[in-house]
Amino acid sequence: MNDIQSISAPAKIILLGEHAVVYNQPAIAVPVPQLRAHCVITPADEFSIIAENTGTTLNLKLITEQVNDALSLIVTTTLKFLDKPAPSISLRLSSDIPIASGLGSGAAVSAVVCKALALAYDIELSTETINQLVYQVEKLHHGTPSGIDNTVIVYEKPVYYRRSEPITVFEVNKPFKFLIADTGEKALTHMSVGDVRQLYLHEQKKYTTIFEEIGRLVVQGKSALLEGDSQTLGKLMNQNQILLRELTVSSESLERLIDSALKSGALGAKLSGGGRGGNMIALVDETSEQEVHKALSQAGATKIIRFTLPTLHR
Ligand code: PMV
Repeated sequence: MNDIQSISAPAKIILLGEHAVVYNQPAIAVPVPQLRAHCVITPADEFSIIAENTGTTLNLKLITEQVNDALSLIVTTTLKFLDKPAPSISLRLSSDIPIASGLGSGAAVSAVVCKALALAYDIELSTETINQLVYQVEKLHHGTPSGIDNTVIVYEKPVYYRRSEPITVFEVNKPFKFLIADTGEKALTHMSVGDVRQLYLHEQKKYTTIFEEIGRLVVQGKSALLEGDSQTLGKLMNQNQILLRELTVSSESLERLIDSALKSGALGAKLSGGGRGGNMIALVDETSEQEVHKALSQAGATKIIRFTLPTLHR
């Protein structure tokens, strides 16, 4: 590799089905293309990674020593798969995706590092291979990840995802408008996933019923998305939020934002991702968008992103 190249990967939001997806129920996630992790690849004497957001620099020695570090793990996992030594490049990483906020920042960073290493050797990895390599690192972040984060981020398409089934990517005909609002509270997904696991282990019947109810909402949600039916999608998001509360993964700040979004005209609102903080999503339309944006801001959202689920490319 002789010239400078740059690649990127998107953030994601989960529209319906988080947590239940860990228990083999379906979930729907979509990429958020305007928020991205970036990687600039420059030829260098030795391999190194400079992570701008955290101010860390990793050389090969550190990478081989740090077995529990996500960046190191994606490097060693990818190189092992490629069956190559570390290439003579420097990777400069930066990201617009807030960390620990339910937007998939970890998976996006892993995806760009994996792609950069393959690019350095001019090897074309299939999307599914990249997906599997990134999933190895997700296990470090989450313990028992469902795999939805890496899948939506690597495929860069809306996905209907169920662990036991082949991945279904889909596109919509009608643009759905969302506001993504940050509570400003960082939350670690493995904590909420671990707590849900404890609840489930104590009362398997009760929680299996909740997971199955969420799964049914997701199936209806996919039809609503394909039919361009935002009223129904909004209702399903609200029902999903009620069940997420029962799983104890909501929080005061999330509830405040959800409440303000609904009172100001959102068609539906729920947390997105692991919960207990991080981001919520509100489904809006042309008429309600401004009001909901204003209400979210007044209710304390630290950042609000306007996001339109892109329609089918014709
Ligand atoms: O918090 P995030 O963005 O990592 O989303 C996690 C989604 C969960 O369903 C809670 C966990 C998983 O592995 O699917």
